[in-house]
Amino acid sequence: MKLYLDTADITAWHKCSLTSAIDGVTTNPALVAECNKSYETVLSEFSGVIDGPIFAQVTARTASAMIEQANRYHQIHSSAIIKLPATEAGFTALAELREKPISAGITVCFTASQAILAGKLDASFIAPYVGRMNDNGQDAVHIVKQILDIYDAHEFDTEVLAASLRNATDATELSAAGVDAITLSPSVYESYLHHPQTTASVTEFHQIWEDAHDNADQ
Ligand code: G3P
Repeated sequence: MKLYLDTADITAWHKCSLTSAIDGVTTNPALVAECNKSYETVLSEFSGVIDGPIFAQVTARTASAMIEQANRYHQIHSSAIIKLPATEAGFTALAELREKPISAGITVCFTASQAILAGKLDASFIAPYVGRMNDNGQDAVHIVKQILDIYDAHEFDTEVLAASLRNATDATELSAAGVDAITLSPSVYESYLHHPQTTASVTEFHQIWEDAHDNADQ
Protein backbone atom coordinates (compact mmCIF):
# COMPACT_ATOMS: atom_id res chain seq x y z
CA MET A 1 0.00 0.00 0.00
CA LYS A 2 1.26 3.44 -0.88
CA LEU A 3 1.14 6.23 1.69
CA TYR A 4 1.21 9.82 0.48
CA LEU A 5 1.33 13.15 2.27
CA ASP A 6 -1.41 15.56 1.20
CA THR A 7 0.33 18.91 1.25
CA ALA A 8 1.90 21.62 -0.88
CA ASP A 9 4.06 22.76 2.03
CA ILE A 10 7.66 21.64 1.59
CA THR A 11 8.37 22.25 5.30
CA ALA A 12 5.57 19.86 6.27
CA TRP A 13 7.01 17.37 3.81
CA HIS A 14 10.49 17.57 5.36
CA LYS A 15 9.05 17.12 8.86
CA CYS A 16 6.78 14.18 8.05
CA SER A 17 9.10 12.39 5.65
CA LEU A 18 11.73 11.87 8.38
CA THR A 19 10.17 8.49 9.15
CA SER A 20 10.63 7.48 5.49
CA ALA A 21 7.21 5.78 5.54
CA ILE A 22 5.83 8.20 2.97
CA ASP A 23 6.01 7.33 -0.70
CA GLY A 24 5.20 10.68 -2.29
CA VAL A 25 3.05 13.77 -2.18
CA THR A 26 -0.44 14.73 -3.37
CA THR A 27 -1.31 18.37 -3.97
CA ASN A 28 -4.42 20.25 -5.01
CA PRO A 29 -5.17 23.88 -5.95
CA ALA A 30 -6.43 24.77 -2.45
CA LEU A 31 -3.28 23.42 -0.79
CA VAL A 32 -1.05 25.27 -3.27
CA ALA A 33 -3.02 28.52 -2.83
CA GLU A 34 -2.48 28.28 0.95
CA CYS A 35 1.28 28.44 0.29
CA ASN A 36 0.99 31.61 -1.81
CA LYS A 37 3.10 30.06 -4.55
CA SER A 38 2.43 29.10 -8.14
CA TYR A 39 1.68 25.47 -8.91
CA GLU A 40 4.85 25.37 -11.03
CA THR A 41 6.98 26.63 -8.11
CA VAL A 42 5.55 24.02 -5.73
CA LEU A 43 6.12 21.26 -8.28
CA SER A 44 9.71 22.36 -8.84
CA GLU A 45 10.37 22.47 -5.08
CA PHE A 46 9.05 18.94 -4.59
CA SER A 47 10.85 17.65 -7.70
CA GLY A 48 14.14 18.53 -6.04
CA VAL A 49 13.51 16.49 -2.90
CA ILE A 50 11.05 13.69 -3.64
CA ASP A 51 12.07 10.48 -5.28
CA GLY A 52 8.53 9.06 -5.45
CA PRO A 53 5.30 10.20 -7.11
CA ILE A 54 4.21 13.85 -7.08
CA PHE A 55 0.50 14.32 -7.83
CA ALA A 56 -0.41 17.67 -9.42
CA GLN A 57 -4.00 18.75 -10.06
CA VAL A 58 -5.05 20.82 -13.04
CA THR A 59 -6.72 24.16 -12.36
CA ALA A 60 -7.97 24.66 -15.93
CA ARG A 61 -11.67 24.29 -16.71
CA THR A 62 -11.76 22.95 -20.25
CA ALA A 63 -10.40 19.63 -21.46
CA SER A 64 -7.98 21.25 -23.91
CA ALA A 65 -6.64 23.65 -21.26
CA MET A 66 -6.29 20.72 -18.82
CA ILE A 67 -4.22 18.84 -21.38
CA GLU A 68 -1.94 21.86 -21.91
CA GLN A 69 -1.51 22.17 -18.17
CA ALA A 70 -0.77 18.46 -17.85
CA ASN A 71 1.95 18.85 -20.47
CA ARG A 72 3.46 21.77 -18.54
CA TYR A 73 3.46 19.80 -15.26
CA HIS A 74 5.02 16.86 -17.11
CA GLN A 75 7.82 19.12 -18.38
CA ILE A 76 8.59 20.31 -14.85
CA HIS A 77 8.59 16.79 -13.43
CA SER A 78 8.54 13.92 -15.90
CA SER A 79 6.98 11.51 -13.42
CA ALA A 80 4.32 13.94 -12.17
CA ILE A 81 0.94 12.21 -11.95
CA ILE A 82 -1.83 14.45 -13.22
CA LYS A 83 -5.02 14.82 -11.20
CA LEU A 84 -8.08 15.57 -13.31
CA PRO A 85 -11.44 16.35 -11.74
CA ALA A 86 -14.33 13.89 -12.10
CA THR A 87 -16.13 16.24 -14.50
CA GLU A 88 -16.99 15.90 -18.17
CA ALA A 89 -13.93 18.01 -19.05
CA GLY A 90 -11.74 15.93 -16.75
CA PHE A 91 -12.87 12.60 -18.25
CA THR A 92 -12.44 14.02 -21.77
CA ALA A 93 -8.90 15.16 -20.96
CA LEU A 94 -8.16 11.73 -19.44
CA ALA A 95 -9.22 9.96 -22.63
CA GLU A 96 -6.78 12.11 -24.63
CA LEU A 97 -3.92 11.92 -22.15
CA ARG A 98 -4.14 8.14 -22.31
CA GLU A 99 -2.51 8.39 -25.72
CA LYS A 100 0.52 10.22 -24.28
CA PRO A 101 3.31 9.08 -21.97
CA ILE A 102 1.73 11.03 -19.11
CA SER A 103 0.24 9.32 -16.09
CA ALA A 104 -3.17 10.75 -15.19
CA GLY A 105 -6.12 9.84 -12.99
CA ILE A 106 -9.36 11.15 -11.60
CA THR A 107 -9.80 13.08 -8.37
CA VAL A 108 -12.71 14.65 -6.45
CA CYS A 109 -14.65 11.40 -6.87
CA PHE A 110 -17.94 11.14 -4.97
CA THR A 111 -19.57 8.06 -6.51
CA ALA A 112 -18.82 4.50 -7.59
CA SER A 113 -20.20 5.36 -11.03
CA GLN A 114 -17.52 8.03 -11.51
CA ALA A 115 -14.99 5.39 -10.49
CA ILE A 116 -16.39 3.03 -13.14
CA LEU A 117 -15.80 5.69 -15.82
CA ALA A 118 -12.26 6.22 -14.55
CA GLY A 119 -11.66 2.47 -14.70
CA LYS A 120 -13.07 2.21 -18.20
CA LEU A 121 -10.79 5.06 -19.30
CA ASP A 122 -7.79 3.31 -17.77
CA ALA A 123 -7.08 6.09 -15.28
CA SER A 124 -3.91 5.46 -13.31
CA PHE A 125 -5.87 6.17 -10.11
CA ILE A 126 -9.23 7.18 -8.74
CA ALA A 127 -9.32 9.41 -5.66
CA PRO A 128 -12.58 9.11 -3.71
CA TYR A 129 -13.02 12.07 -1.36
CA VAL A 130 -13.85 10.21 1.83
CA GLY A 131 -14.22 13.17 4.22
CA ARG A 132 -16.24 15.24 1.79
CA MET A 133 -18.52 12.27 1.03
CA ASN A 134 -19.20 11.90 4.74
CA ASP A 135 -19.82 15.67 5.01
CA ASN A 136 -22.32 15.20 2.19
CA GLY A 137 -24.20 12.52 4.13
CA GLN A 138 -22.84 9.64 2.02
CA ASP A 139 -21.39 6.47 3.53
CA ALA A 140 -17.88 6.98 2.20
CA VAL A 141 -16.33 3.79 3.50
CA HIS A 142 -19.14 1.74 1.94
CA ILE A 143 -18.75 3.52 -1.42
CA VAL A 144 -14.98 3.02 -1.49
CA LYS A 145 -15.45 -0.67 -0.69
CA GLN A 146 -17.93 -0.88 -3.60
CA ILE A 147 -15.32 0.69 -5.88
CA LEU A 148 -12.76 -1.89 -4.75
CA ASP A 149 -15.25 -4.70 -5.44
CA ILE A 150 -16.11 -3.33 -8.89
CA TYR A 151 -12.45 -2.93 -9.87
CA ASP A 152 -11.72 -6.42 -8.59
CA ALA A 153 -14.70 -8.03 -10.35
CA HIS A 154 -13.90 -6.39 -13.68
CA GLU A 155 -10.12 -6.48 -13.36
CA PHE A 156 -9.60 -2.74 -13.80
CA ASP A 157 -5.98 -1.67 -13.26
CA THR A 158 -6.91 1.75 -11.88
CA GLU A 159 -5.58 2.19 -8.35
CA VAL A 160 -7.86 3.36 -5.55
CA LEU A 161 -6.29 6.30 -3.71
CA ALA A 162 -8.42 7.26 -0.71
CA ALA A 163 -8.25 11.04 -0.19
CA SER A 164 -9.82 13.75 1.95
CA LEU A 165 -9.31 11.52 4.98
CA ARG A 166 -10.07 13.37 8.17
CA ASN A 167 -9.21 10.68 10.70
CA ALA A 168 -7.13 7.55 11.16
CA THR A 169 -10.23 5.39 11.69
CA ASP A 170 -11.56 5.74 8.13
CA ALA A 171 -8.02 5.50 6.77
CA THR A 172 -7.23 2.25 8.58
CA GLU A 173 -10.62 0.73 7.72
CA LEU A 174 -10.00 1.43 4.06
CA SER A 175 -6.46 0.11 4.33
CA ALA A 176 -7.90 -3.12 5.76
CA ALA A 177 -10.38 -3.20 2.85
CA GLY A 178 -7.45 -3.15 0.42
CA VAL A 179 -7.16 0.36 -1.02
CA ASP A 180 -4.00 0.71 -3.06
CA ALA A 181 -3.05 4.05 -1.53
CA ILE A 182 -4.09 6.63 1.00
CA THR A 183 -3.13 10.25 1.25
CA LEU A 184 -3.03 11.90 4.65
CA SER A 185 -2.85 15.52 5.70
CA PRO A 186 0.15 16.24 7.96
CA SER A 187 -2.19 16.37 10.98
CA VAL A 188 -3.80 12.96 10.28
CA TYR A 189 -0.31 11.58 9.61
CA GLU A 190 0.78 12.90 13.03
CA SER A 191 -2.15 11.02 14.56
CA TYR A 192 -0.71 7.81 13.04
CA LEU A 193 2.54 8.43 14.90
CA HIS A 194 1.31 9.26 18.36
CA HIS A 195 -0.84 7.66 21.03
CA PRO A 196 -0.97 8.89 24.63
CA GLN A 197 -0.73 5.34 26.00
CA THR A 198 2.41 4.72 23.93
CA THR A 199 3.95 7.90 25.33
CA ALA A 200 2.96 6.96 28.88
CA SER A 201 4.29 3.40 28.56
CA VAL A 202 7.60 4.52 27.03
CA THR A 203 8.01 7.08 29.84
CA GLU A 204 7.34 4.31 32.37
CA PHE A 205 9.97 2.05 30.78
CA HIS A 206 12.53 4.89 30.84
CA GLN A 207 11.79 5.53 34.49
CA ILE A 208 12.11 1.85 35.47
CA TRP A 209 15.35 1.59 33.48
CA GLU A 210 16.85 4.68 35.11
CA ASP A 211 15.76 3.57 38.61
CA ALA A 212 17.33 0.12 38.05
CA HIS A 213 20.61 1.72 36.97
CA ASP A 214 20.58 4.20 39.86
CA ASN A 215 20.16 1.25 42.29
CA ALA A 216 22.91 -0.76 40.57
CA ASP A 217 25.30 2.23 40.92
CA GLN A 218 24.75 2.46 44.71
O1 G3P B 1 -6.53 14.90 -1.14
C1 G3P B 1 -7.71 15.64 -1.21
C2 G3P B 1 -7.79 16.58 -0.11
O2 G3P B 1 -6.74 17.51 -0.13
C3 G3P B 1 -9.09 17.23 0.10
O3 G3P B 1 -9.18 17.23 1.46
O4 G3P B 1 -9.96 17.88 3.64
O5 G3P B 1 -10.14 19.48 1.70
O6 G3P B 1 -11.61 17.47 1.84
P1 G3P B 1 -10.30 18.08 2.18
